[in-house]
Amino acid sequence: MSKPTPKPGIMDIDPYVGGLHTVEGVDEVVVLASNEGPLGASPLAIEAYEREAQRLHLYPDGGAEELRAAIGQRFGLDPARIVCGAGSDEIISLLISAYAGVGDEVLYSAHGFLMYPINAKSAGATPVAAPETNLTANVDALLDAVTDRTKMLFLANPNNPTGSYLPADELRRLREGLPDHVLMVIDAAYAEYVSRNDYVSGAELVEKHDNVVMTRTFSKAFGLAAVRLGWAYCPAEVADVLNRVRNPFNVTAPAQAAGIAAVGDLSHTDAAIAHNDEWLPKFTAELQNLGYEVAPSVGNFVLVRFDTPETARSAYDYLLSQGVIGRMMGGYGLPESLRFTIGLESELKRVIDSLAAHRKSL
Ligand SMILES: Cc1ncc(COP(=O)(O)O)c(C=O)c1O
Repeated sequence: MSKPTPKPGIMDIDPYVGGLHTVEGVDEVVVLASNEGPLGASPLAIEAYEREAQRLHLYPDGGAEELRAAIGQRFGLDPARIVCGAGSDEIISLLISAYAGVGDEVLYSAHGFLMYPINAKSAGATPVAAPETNLTANVDALLDAVTDRTKMLFLANPNNPTGSYLPADELRRLREGLPDHVLMVIDAAYAEYVSRNDYVSGAELVEKHDNVVMTRTFSKAFGLAAVRLGWAYCPAEVADVLNRVRNPFNVTAPAQAAGIAAVGDLSHTDAAIAHNDEWLPKFTAELQNLGYEVAPSVGNFVLVRFDTPETARSAYDYLLSQGVIGRMMGGYGLPESLRFTIGLESELKRVIDSLAAHRKSL
């Protein structure tokens, strides 16, 4: 008997498993699994979101005009070249489905964000992972992996889950080494947190070249993961392509309203960044004091290495039993590691106390 079958590639996809938010039987959980902002959303964004409740019967502005103008103003970018999406996940998916298909290759670095290979397979394209060095993207390895079939290159900068980044000169060298027909997507989801002098988000490269796109999100430093809001800064031609393939009302009205308010509330993101600047190094040092190897991170999370995949799993389970939710990293080829978001001071203390207790029990 015949039956409907999905396109080739779809059944090769391992579904993305998001971080947990609850633990059965535990009331006060510490959620550090998805790199969400521990300070929550800006109060102005929450107010704006609530105001939209009176207008739920109306379609949103399909062009997200006011939101694009607000983003453009905050980041000094041309709103005409900004395209908004339901999270940067949607932008990644739209880009891949518009630019890659059967027979094409989508290149990314070995421990890069999982949505790149997932979306590549979904489009019928072949994801190709280039090896990394010390959990950091390697420009030479990426360029060596380019073939005639390479259509796109994705680089999360900084990368999730490793927390590493490529400095501006390496980013430029990567762009320069790519054939012009390869679309380079710089996923700068964690850009707000990076305070290194040699870091750039990629907006300048977008302005200089026809084959560079930068994606950003409201889910991290802006604390708006629930509303699903992200954006891309694109060459005009790529913006035109995205505007053809996206759904007409892909960003909800409450998301647009919250985004406009959030982008105007500089003090809230300043506070989120200051919190991270303080607790990223402190939490890292405390983990190191317990004897763990911690990958140097410039994001709002850390990758912690355990002796074996089994120890990582047992630590994860023990923490869960204590109501502390981290994230296992087997899907990223890092089964011996767990990732933790930089949460509130009290939350990080619970991680440290639980890990110390777990260590003792071994
Ligand atoms: C590197 C990277 N890119 C993109 C995303 C997707 O973010 P969102 O769809 O919430 O904008 C994430 C989320 O964790 C991420 O880590």
